[in-house]
Amino acid sequence: MAVDRCVCVNVLFQELLELHREHGLGFDELVDRTGCCTGCTSCEPYVKVMLRTGKTYLPILNAEEADRVLHEWQDREGKPA
Ligand code: FES
Repeated sequence: MAVDRCVCVNVLFQELLELHREHGLGFDELVDRTGCCTGCTSCEPYVKVMLRTGKTYLPILNAEEADRVLHEWQDREGKPA
């Protein structure tokens, strides 16, 4: 089983990746444009992995892995996770 979308707003990671690549949108801009990550927020680590790797079908992360992704993002971007 793979995670491939923000379920809350029903937007595919593939669509987010295209917006990122074609329009240079970063995480915050993708959130503003699509509303992804504004519901339950459980997709946030997946969106950040997608932006880092370009992969749009992602394995399910356990809580520890999701926390690690968010902390690594914060360390790299200098913003709250
Ligand atoms: S799955 Fe993206 S906000 Fe809930």
